[in-house]
Amino acid sequence: MYKANDTRYDNVTPRPLGKSGLVLPPIALGLWQHYGSADPYAARRDVILAAFDRGVFHFDVANHYGDGDFGSSEALLGQVLASDLRPYRDELVIATKIGYEIHPGPFGTGTSRKAILQGIDDSLGRLNLDYVDLLYAHRFDTTVPVAETVRALDDVVKAGKALYIGVSNFDTPQAQEAIDRFTALGTPFVVDQMSYNLFNRDVETSGLLDTLRRAGAGLVAYGPLSEGLLSDRYLAGIPDTFKIHPTNQQTFANGKAAVVQRLNQLNDLAQGRGQTLAQMALAWLLRDPIVASVLIGTTSTTHLQDNLQALDHLAFTADELAEIDRLTTL
Ligand SMILES: NC(=O)c1ccc[n+]([C@@H]2O[C@H](COP(=O)([O-])OP(=O)(O)OC[C@H]3O[C@@H](n4cnc5c(N)ncnc54)[C@H](OP(=O)(O)O)[C@@H]3O)[C@@H](O)[C@H]2O)c1
Repeated sequence: MYKANDTRYDNVTPRPLGKSGLVLPPIALGLWQHYGSADPYAARRDVILAAFDRGVFHFDVANHYGDGDFGSSEALLGQVLASDLRPYRDELVIATKIGYEIHPGPFGTGTSRKAILQGIDDSLGRLNLDYVDLLYAHRFDTTVPVAETVRALDDVVKAGKALYIGVSNFDTPQAQEAIDRFTALGTPFVVDQMSYNLFNRDVETSGLLDTLRRAGAGLVAYGPLSEGLLSDRYLAGIPDTFKIHPTNQQTFANGKAAVVQRLNQLNDLAQGRGQTLAQMALAWLLRDPIVASVLIGTTSTTHLQDNLQALDHLAFTADELAEIDRLTTL
């Protein structure tokens, strides 16, 4: 039977999501890719438990996740929750999302009232939970009035099925509109989950961070390594098979050779700090307290452990930050 490491919180300083009472570990684990029904359960369970043993008390899924077998990432996490993490439920922050395809038909996607209210029940069933800590609208749905989505999310909270609410992939005006409506209803809205990494600083340049700050909310950063690009994997070149996330397309605007050159320069800078490139990329995202948590995706306990060592050196000098700015302006 699994027993969590007694020292699991020794090296982790939880960070608040804006001005809310919800705190998250600085680095959390997302189960988007390769945590589905086709993946080896025992190996994935090992990564999840290795993460919890190191103070990663936040796990992020979506009803859509599962590498095409929608819902199967929630089911995998639900199995680990039922068989191993049940005694630790009160320590965990479990997040899921509704908004992308989960089943055929018009209510199998989007954020209508019907999609959200039936979606949360289905997610809770797969997760083996009575409630999630955080429920997100996974995307801004242009076919549904924002007021309807916001009210449905608020009703999920009132029904005790989610403790806090977030949105994901909402740009600045979309987030502001939702925030105004959540505020009017008194909904515990706490976060926008967005793509953010060294090569993609849209959340800074668009004013989103300032909008969230004003609202007393926080940001959770996803894709911090840009599909593993910001690690030592591609220092010798980026293969044609490399698939970049749609939110990071502009990274290759000047071609892959230019990116490889910058990766090597960033790697040198990281080594000068006594870090790997991946560790520096994660630490850099945590330089502003508005970023409560950085969601990594990994199937490897070795990568997990390496990435968590980013927490050993979070401070940056002004010179290092200026050099990073120069190297990431592609
Ligand atoms: N809200 C949204 O729309 C949205 C969108 C995308 C993602 N997300 C969330 O964010 C989470 C993370 O996203 P992501 O998977 O794009 O994150 P990521 O951490 O930026 O990239 C994951 C990739 O990096 C590799 N990797 C991780 N650590 C490494 C290391 N130290 N050295 C070399 N390679 C390394 C992984 O391969 P290995 O498996 O080999 O380690 C994997 O291929 C997702 O699971 C999901 O929860 C949300």
